[in-house]
Amino acid sequence: MRTLKEKLYQKIEEFRPRTERLLNEYGDIVIDKVTISQAIGGMRGVKSLVTDISYLDPNEGIRYRGYTLEEVFKLLPKPKDAEMPYVEGLFYLLLTGDIPTEEEVADVVDEFSKRRILPRYLYEIIDAQPCCSHPMTIFSTAILTMHRESFFTKKYYAVFNKKDYWDPMYEDVLNLLAKLPEIATYIYAKLYRDGKRIQSNPNLDFGGNFAFMMGKPKPYDDVARLHFILHSDHESGNVSAHTGHLVASSLSDIYLSISAMVNGLAGPLHGLAAQGVLQWLHELIERLGGEEAEPSEDEVRQYVWETLNAGFLIPGFGHAVLRKTDPRYSLQRNFSLKHLKDDPVFRYVDILYRIVPPILQEQGKAKNPWPNVDAQSGVIQWHYGVREYDFYTVLFSIGRALGISANIIWDRALGYPLERPKSLTTDMLEEIAGIKKKPLKEPDHKKKEKSGE
Ligand SMILES: CC(C)(COP(=O)(O)OP(=O)(O)OC[C@H]1O[C@@H](n2cnc3c(N)ncnc32)[C@H](O)[C@@H]1OP(=O)(O)O)[C@@H](O)C(=O)NCCC(=O)NCCS
Repeated sequence: MRTLKEKLYQKIEEFRPRTERLLNEYGDIVIDKVTISQAIGGMRGVKSLVTDISYLDPNEGIRYRGYTLEEVFKLLPKPKDAEMPYVEGLFYLLLTGDIPTEEEVADVVDEFSKRRILPRYLYEIIDAQPCCSHPMTIFSTAILTMHRESFFTKKYYAVFNKKDYWDPMYEDVLNLLAKLPEIATYIYAKLYRDGKRIQSNPNLDFGGNFAFMMGKPKPYDDVARLHFILHSDHESGNVSAHTGHLVASSLSDIYLSISAMVNGLAGPLHGLAAQGVLQWLHELIERLGGEEAEPSEDEVRQYVWETLNAGFLIPGFGHAVLRKTDPRYSLQRNFSLKHLKDDPVFRYVDILYRIVPPILQEQGKAKNPWPNVDAQSGVIQWHYGVREYDFYTVLFSIGRALGISANIIWDRALGYPLERPKSLTTDMLEEIAGIKKKPLKEPDHKKKEKSGE
């Protein structure tokens, strides 16, 4: 059996000629055009990134290495008596494109376990954070602080062949990923459990050990596996993936890159939406008489409209690329229908699933009225007793780090260069639009002032 690193090396050697041929022989072929609204509007839909690790089809949802999520959950090996697959197996798939055997997964489980121990100074850094800090801030700081551990950075200054950059990056990635559950659960204990920490169990897999350190019995190990796998990758244009890739493109190491990725994920339009959903849900539940009340669809409908009419978003609905219900939502919904059917908070989530899309359609603004991953992930955590919802984006980050790290190793392997798009000025856009010398229409308030209204 070849180790993950040996297998990856073989895959890289086989793949490189494809990228080289595209660059050398077909580099001038046009793949897209850019409009003014795309340049101003967050580059929506501009095809300008490359990744082979996942692809997001607007009408189908995400595929990892060509596999739908249903296939991923069916095909990846599972720990004994578990409903969900090994997270380590998912990482193997993301990195190599192959479904690993039981033996190959066991090797990765072992690698992660060996690398999980945190440097002592990290506890001090986390302990030194003020108690009211958001866990995402502490998580990002802890990862950033480990920059000093980077093999890649040390080797870079010793001068080595560009083609070998992926190798120390791989070592850094494994070292970092193995530590993320330890860092997260230590932060959880500090912020919400008076510092009472549960030491890790080296005999458990990534998801099982995370549940153990959170102090949660079965089936929370499966909840953790499900969560990390579902959140791992969503192609390269979303804020966290793009940030990780962008920062790494300057040959920053994995600690700098993943810390930056975490910061991108911490925004309310991105990963923080998981926290926003639960906050909003609880306001709704309180308003309708608490968890014991029997909410009617009409009452919930009225609350949704009030939220929209007040100018707020409905968290957990909509997506910049997807144009259907997020399959990550559907998988979590299926899990909830099996395990949380009578949970009072899930009852509300279930009502929202039915009533929000038609309301957003009627309002006519959101291009995608359907629920996304965040509309369902928090309620599962809540059900299993993780009720500190500002922690939910840390869970998202652990999952997302798997996909972004796999991408960054491949960025190094294929020699992807520094990312540097070009910017224009508003003057230049007006020039391109042919309106440079045309006066702007007077704003309404100016007209009113002149007419003395
Ligand atoms: C995900 C999201 C950021 C995508 O943004 P986007 O690509 O700009 O979305 P759209 O193109 O559909 O937005 C068009 C309009 O619909 C609105 N809209 C989109 N989703 C909405 C929602 N869930 N509730 C209310 N309005 C919404 C936008 O605010 C925008 O309004 P504007 O024209 O007044 O600025 C957006 O849907 C959103 O904010 N959703 C809620 C937060 C969330 O769940 N984030 C997690 C995503 S995985």
